Formats: sequence, structure tokens, C-alpha cells
Amino acid sequence: MNTMTNEVASTQQKTRAFLDRQKHRMLIGGQWVDALNGERLQIVNPADEAVIGSIPSAHAEDVDNAVECAKNALEHGTWARMRPSTRQNLLLKLADLIERDARVIAELEAIDNGKSAAIAQAVDIGLGLEFFRYMAGWTTKIEGSTLDVSVPFAPPEADFFAYTRREPVGVVAAIIPWNFPFLMACWKLAPALAAGCTVVLKPAEQTSLSALYLGELIEEANFPEGVVNIVTGDGQNAGSALTKHPGINKISFTGSTQVGQVIGRAAMDNMARVTLELGGKSPMIVLGDCDPEKAAQGAATAIFFNHGQTCSAGSRLYVHRSIFDVVVNRLAELAETIPMGSGLDPATEMGPLVSQVQLDRVCHFIEKGREEGARLVTGGKRADRKGYYVKPTIFTSEDDSLVIAKEEIFGPVLVAIPFDDVDDVVLRANDSRYGLAASIWSNDLSQVQRIIPRLKAGTVWVNGHNMLDANVPFGGYKLSGVGRDMGKQSLDSYLETKSVFMAL
Ligand code: NAI
Ligand code: MG
Repeated sequence: MNTMTNEVASTQQKTRAFLDRQKHRMLIGGQWVDALNGERLQIVNPADEAVIGSIPSAHAEDVDNAVECAKNALEHGTWARMRPSTRQNLLLKLADLIERDARVIAELEAIDNGKSAAIAQAVDIGLGLEFFRYMAGWTTKIEGSTLDVSVPFAPPEADFFAYTRREPVGVVAAIIPWNFPFLMACWKLAPALAAGCTVVLKPAEQTSLSALYLGELIEEANFPEGVVNIVTGDGQNAGSALTKHPGINKISFTGSTQVGQVIGRAAMDNMARVTLELGGKSPMIVLGDCDPEKAAQGAATAIFFNHGQTCSAGSRLYVHRSIFDVVVNRLAELAETIPMGSGLDPATEMGPLVSQVQLDRVCHFIEKGREEGARLVTGGKRADRKGYYVKPTIFTSEDDSLVIAKEEIFGPVLVAIPFDDVDDVVLRANDSRYGLAASIWSNDLSQVQRIIPRLKAGTVWVNGHNMLDANVPFGGYKLSGVGRDMGKQSLDSYLETKSVFMAL
């Protein structure tokens, strides 16, 4: 008990010290700096709507400096010549430091984003540090191929030697959202650094603290200056300048489809490579043989985890009509008992939404659902307290062409829809502009195996939802994105192939 209390006290102390350091300045070329024009953006704690500090609001001139530093670190200095095993050790050291300070980082997430610190520590920080270790392993295993060649027009006595090398793609712009601030930073930084790239990271303006803390750990781990630069600021100024910068060789973005499309177009002007991980409206398909209790528990996690602010949230729940009512009623019971409160309270499972903007957006969709005639089973409004809390909300409808069944809401709002026929439900599940993920719930292995290839989704989970692992690629079909985060596939997207062809 005493150790527990001491640990809590020391975490709070470290968190406060970080906030006091006014080190929520930006990291450019190894220096902690303010925006050149001095502008700042407020940091709001979504649990009580209090302003708790501010971050620099970077503009084009700050972005120019950061890209310049990243380019220098890429081409000159120790990073450019560093051996893979040294890079590996730096990444491992960083993972150890993240593990050491996991509680502090989790607390910063709670203050900044609203999520439960306890859950963030296990999930966001746990997955993030694991991913650094996973990618550290790849640094020493990057390889090309030797290629036998024929060269039909060459004289018979000519000899050749051809091979490929994998090289870092260059300076990476990583632009990340507010829903998993720390984890998204890890998803972009780990493969970029494993590949030998340098990075300019722009966290979301709502949630920059954990990225800045990570910047401190990157310094402490002794990465060379300029390898990781962190510019804080909004999308219109910092994000847009970074996206359009001709010095950027690759853009890795997670966020809305709308902004992803803007970024994708801008990237093509400079032929920057892109990884885009965008929105979703992921279906859960519960077949008639599924245990209703398991389906209800699964659906609750799929939609209410991270308050529904998850790109792969299971927001469309298709349930076979034979068990529809029992699943929905049980799900409603579960929704009504989710402990809601500040992310700093260890009992909390659901915190506030991230911002006033997101609160308004989610409430607007709830209103829309009512207007469209969907049946409200539970929730449907803000919680009666200060902070951006929304009650877990469940609608049912026969009609999946409703706006609430089509658009990404990005909040704790689910639409449950009954179905009668498996072929029909597959078509309905695919009838979306998104294709990020889907889940199937059944023990009928043959049926499940027949459905999997027909679903247009980057990930298909079976008897689970939101299962993630460092070794499993994650990304979308259709408007849910381009490319993959995680797994070896994400490392590949930070590497160029150089072909070498020699006449002997
Ligand atoms: P957003 O896509 O605008 O923001 C994500 C990141 O992009 C932030 O760092 C932001 O500063 C940056 N950004 C914004 N405009 C930019 C531009 N023109 N150029 C370069 N960077 C830019 O997402 P927002 O506005 O915070 O949320 C709106 C909706 O987007 C949410 O309600 C949700 O539906 C969706 N979203 C999806 C996410 C996902 O993980 N797929 C994450 C966040 C939001
Ligand atoms: Mg936006």
C-alpha cells in the first residue's frame, strides 16, 4: 500500500515538474524553442474544461527550421554513419525510458486527452514501447537481394553483378491525431528511426504533451540532435506548412479522411511517399450461433473503448435477428454501468471526449439520429457534469442508410441493425466508403472463413475487436487510407530500394 502511495505521489510530482518546466516548448535541432512569432495555443483539460498551460503555435518559418535540422541530421553527422546495431540500442534505450516513465506519460494523456491513465498505461504506453522494441529488432535485419540478370542485348562474354540496397526514405513528416497521442507518435517514429530516417513530428494541437515528453526521453536516450524534431501547432499553419515542404520525402499521417485527402494531394506535388491512416465505420457481424453475452461484451469494448474515439471503433453492429434483442438489451445494461469520470481516477473506464469541438460534433450526430427516426435505447446526451462527457449511446434501426450508420461519429455512439441473411449482411457491411476494419463473431469456422475474403477491410477480427500487435499490419481499404502502420510492412514504407547494376 505504502509503495503504491509513494509511486502515485512520485508520478504526480514528475507530471507537475514537467508541466512547470515550461518545457512544453518545441524540439528543433536539439534545442527547446518557442515559435518564432511567439504565438501559443491553449491546453485544455477536457475533464474540467480548465486551461492548464499552452504550447507554441508553429508556423512556416518554424517548420522550415525543423526540416532543415532533420535534413542535416540525415545527411551529415553521426546518425548518417551510425551502424544498425547502434541504432537498435538507441531504440531499445528509448523503450526502457518509456517503460520507466510509463505512469507519468499515462497521466499526461489523462490530463490532455481525457482518457483513463490506468488504461493508457497498459494499452497506449504498453503498445508504444513494445513497438519500439519490435522495430529495434528490424534495424539489424534490413536487407536487399542479389539478382541474377540476363541482359539479352549484351555479348555472350559480358558479366554483370546486380543487387538491391534498402535505404532510408529521407526526412519524414509525421502528423498525428489526438485520440492516441503517444501511441501514434510511436507508430510513426519507431519504423522511421529503425529505417534510419529523420523526423519532424507534429502532434495534434489538442494533445501535444506526451509527444513533448517523448522528446525529452529521446534527448535522454542520446539520439543525435535533429534526428527527431517536434513542432507543435495546428493543422492550418504547422501541419499545412509541413505537408507542402519540398524537403519532406515521406508523410505519415493519421487523422480524418478529409485532411488525409488534402495531404495526399500535397504530397504528390513533391512526390513525397505517403502513409495515410484515416477514418472508419467498422462493422461487427454477429452470427446467430454466437453467445449473446460474448457478443454484448465484445460490442461494448468495440465501441466504448477510448470513448469511441478510435478509428477502428465497431460503430455498426449487425446482429442476427434471432439474438438481436437479447444482445442489444445486454449491451445497453453494460453501457449504463461503465464507470465514467476523470482519467486520473483509477476507477474510470470512460473519460470525457477530447474537446468542445468533438463534444459538439458527437452531440450533433446524436441529434441527427433522433431526427432520422432511429430508436434510442440508452444514452443520447451529455452527462450532467462539467467536462466533455457524453453518455454511452445506443441506437437501433432497420435502415443502415441513415447518416448515423454511414458517417464516422468518433464518439461513444453505436447503431445496432438486425439481419437475416449472411450474404446480405456482407454486402451491407461493405456498403461504406470506409474499409478500415471489421469483426465477425461466430464459432462456425466454415462460415467465418467464407466471409473473411469477402470483407473489404484492412483488418478482420474474429471473436474480438480492436486487437492490435506490433507484428500485425494495420491500415485501410478504400477511403480508410493508403499503406500500413505496424508490422514489417510499415518498416518497408520508410525504405527506398536502390538497384545497383555493375558491368564486370
Ligand atoms: P484532423 O484530421 O483535422 O487532425 C489530425 C491531425 O492533422 C492533427 O495533427 C491536425 O493538426 C492535422 N491537420 C489538420 N488539418 C491539416 C492540414 N490541412 N494539413 C496538415 N495537417 C493538418 O482531425 P480533427 O479535426 O481533429 O477531427 C475531426 C474528425 O476526424 C474526428 O471527428 C474523426 O471523425 C476524425 N479523426 C480520425 C482519426 C483516426 O484515427 N482515423 C483521428 C482523429 C480524427
Ligand atoms: Mg480538423
